[in-house]
Amino acid sequence: MEKIICITGASSGVGLATALKFANEGWIVYAGTRNVERDQKKYASVNNLHFVEMEVKDPASLTKVMDLITEQYGRIDLLFCNAGFGFIRTLGQASIEQIQSVFDTNVYGVIHTIRAALPLLRKSESAHIVATSSVGGLVGQPLNEIYCASKFAIEGLLESLATYYKPLFNIDVTLLEPGAIESNFASTALNQLAETGGVLEDEYKPIVDTYIDMFSKRNSVPQTSEAIAELMYELAYMDSKPLRIRTSEAAEQFVSHKVQGDPTGLQGITQTRKIQLAME
Ligand SMILES: NC(=O)c1ccc[n+]([C@@H]2O[C@H](COP(=O)([O-])OP(=O)(O)OC[C@H]3O[C@@H](n4cnc5c(N)ncnc54)[C@H](OP(=O)(O)O)[C@@H]3O)[C@@H](O)[C@H]2O)c1
Repeated sequence: MEKIICITGASSGVGLATALKFANEGWIVYAGTRNVERDQKKYASVNNLHFVEMEVKDPASLTKVMDLITEQYGRIDLLFCNAGFGFIRTLGQASIEQIQSVFDTNVYGVIHTIRAALPLLRKSESAHIVATSSVGGLVGQPLNEIYCASKFAIEGLLESLATYYKPLFNIDVTLLEPGAIESNFASTALNQLAETGGVLEDEYKPIVDTYIDMFSKRNSVPQTSEAIAELMYELAYMDSKPLRIRTSEAAEQFVSHKVQGDPTGLQGITQTRKIQLAME
């Protein structure tokens, strides 16, 4: 029987690479984009790949896709909540509207997507929800506080769901935690910064300059989106699915002080389940 995956943020980067990988491996792929016409035309030759309009800030656009999948296959086996963007203004510099817009996509986007897909996930014999978090979902970083807070939020959301979705609905839950990836992510964040006045001459400037200087001296090589897609495919077939998975050695090292006692997160959710639900 064919497997069904639904991906948000599949117009570029990790989402697109994952959509292509799974379609090429024979999965039926519903690839969320904000420009169906452009993407469907570009990838018309790829079998099993269906671009669908998914604006994660708009629950109605997600419901429409779920209605379509209900009609066509009646279930989702793997939901990949991947849409998101970076933001590099400090708490003291950003407007509340800008901060809210990060949360609208990176946090509410994931909430809306899971809520819309849940009935279809429950129709699968064994379903899986994966959300793209970040090393910034585990480690707070200077100048990235808004972005990190948004990723910490989805870490809390998915960790909580993981305590009971598996025993109750047979749905595994995983947080994908990459470090730097080659994609449109950096240019989108830098464009947003440029469009709102660029690096400001204010009290944060010395810290910003030091941060940029340290960043340029780091010789870590970003992962390709294709490497993340390969890992996503491996993850889909793992017998014991981790709650958390870093995508590279560099990412693992960066967060080691937070995860060394329980790298996959499975020990933690097992313990919580035992204490609060009296379940193994
Ligand atoms: N790149 C990194 O270094 C890095 C590191 C750690 C985690 N991540 C996470 O990885 C995920 C994928 O990012 P990426 O690196 O592949 O960057 P990307 O190439 O910029 O892809 C982001 C995707 O999300 C979509 N998107 C953004 N806001 C959306 C919204 N409101 N509704 C629907 N789709 C939306 C974009 O669509 P449009 O094309 O329409 O804008 C695009 O398809 C994100 O969650 C990001 O936070 C990235």
